[in-house]
Amino acid sequence: MELGSGVSLMKYGTVLSFVIVILACWYRTPVRDALDTRLDKVLSSLLRAERKADVNSFARPRVAVGFGGCVDIIVDGVTLLNKIGLPPSDRPLHHDYIENALQLSESFAYFFPPGAASERFVMNDTLFSQLVEASRELPGNRWTVGGNAPVMAGPHGTGGLRRAAGGQLQPGAQRGPVPAHHRGRYIIHSDDHNPYLASIEDFEQKLQNFQPELLVVGGLQMMDNFPFKQGEREALLGRLARLLSSAGPETDVHFEMASFVDEGLLAELLRLVVPLADSLGMNEQELPNLLSVLRGGNVTVLSDPNPRVATVLDQMRELYRLANARHRDAPPPGGRPLTRLHVHTLAFQAIIVTRGSQWKNTMSATAKASLTANRHVCGSSDINPGKAKLIMDESFSISRREGSQRIPLEETRPVSCWDEDDYQICVAPVLVCTEVFQTAGGGDNISAAGLVLQI
Ligand SMILES: *[C@@H]1O[C@H](CO)[C@@H](O)[C@H](O)[C@H]1NC(C)=O
Ligand SMILES: *[C@@H]1O[C@H](CO)[C@@H](O)[C@H](O)[C@H]1NC(C)=O
Ligand SMILES: *[C@@H]1O[C@H](CO)[C@@H](O)[C@H](O)[C@H]1NC(C)=O
Repeated sequence: MELGSGVSLMKYGTVLSFVIVILACWYRTPVRDALDTRLDKVLSSLLRAERKADVNSFARPRVAVGFGGCVDIIVDGVTLLNKIGLPPSDRPLHHDYIENALQLSESFAYFFPPGAASERFVMNDTLFSQLVEASRELPGNRWTVGGNAPVMAGPHGTGGLRRAAGGQLQPGAQRGPVPAHHRGRYIIHSDDHNPYLASIEDFEQKLQNFQPELLVVGGLQMMDNFPFKQGEREALLGRLARLLSSAGPETDVHFEMASFVDEGLLAELLRLVVPLADSLGMNEQELPNLLSVLRGGNVTVLSDPNPRVATVLDQMRELYRLANARHRDAPPPGGRPLTRLHVHTLAFQAIIVTRGSQWKNTMSATAKASLTANRHVCGSSDINPGKAKLIMDESFSISRREGSQRIPLEETRPVSCWDEDDYQICVAPVLVCTEVFQTAGGGDNISAAGLVLQI
């Protein structure tokens, strides 16, 4: 999770472990079509919407961000697999965790063609060391301090922002038909520290003096499929739950979802962490996954990476309804109603906020999330419309239910907000960056950008 300037920040994590971010990015040269000529107007309108709630004009909000810090090595996926002698398998197969090189190759091939992001645990130290070695030797590899909460405001004031480079996929290495807007990242880790929330004790102590207005919890995907001893993971999450439930009413709690496939972990998160958060953030893969488990079903490993607005909004409404029904029926100690839900997709940003809740500036926050998506991926705070493309349709239906209202994408008012039941929904198109500089950390970066305008 990264936050912009104008925010007092306490990030906590342990910089001890390696993560390999395997990138597979591929973009078709953007065609200047009729929609693209509207880009300039959409951009200036989004910038205006963002400025309406400029965080710098307020007192600096205090934000604490927890868990998981590591060193990221970013490499091109196909090049790495070729180097270890295992080009992406033509037998795409999902694996919950990775035990050998063949499984890595099959798993990569599974997520690569649809361009979906995923993160897997490597349960083989020998293999992982080999991959780190091979990555070091690859031309163009990049090292960054990564993780959801890299030490940044630590005692020595060092540390850095997560910054990852988007490698272009080699021509000819592309497998099968690839959609026009394709962006994948496949992250593997073999991490013996972060899964134990090694920093929680320190974090707990520092929180008492820091008294944040916002407490952000992320990085728990490090626990996914990690070989814990019986009961160990539940005890750790129980400890986190106690920390969250002891936060005062002046502290909002945001939980950022991630790529989870471990059903036991998801069930514990739903029981121990999700009910203690006021706000949830996630992408288009994580939303159907969480919803499916909440409905009592199985995890969904791979969902449509380019869903329609109507589909996402229906899923968001259901998640909002189910989470709040659970809160009413059986609130855990310190439980909070869900008053904010932010979903980030490649084509658009959508935020639901309970009317009359503490969250403000939803329209500006949605605009900022959308602009941040471009800034992060293009790696530049100035948005160049020549390197951007609108891929959201010219109008969208607000639900898949028959006879639902359609909202046109108006270039001078690109953020659409409306009221339903007890909440407001805002949707903003993303000016999709066509010259990828980085994709890793995008979700965290976008989510954080939306949050800072809402507290
Ligand atoms: C997000 O990423 C951008 C570009 O890498 C960076 O400048 C910024 O500080 C990050 N954080 C936020 C909240 O924008
Ligand atoms: C772990 O990886 C090494 C190196 O790739 C391999 O030789 C070994 O068979 C793997 N172990 C298991 C249990 O798959
Ligand atoms: C859900 O997972 C269980 C256990 O892995 C499996 O037996 C069952 O068939 C799955 N159900 C569906 C609907 O996929």
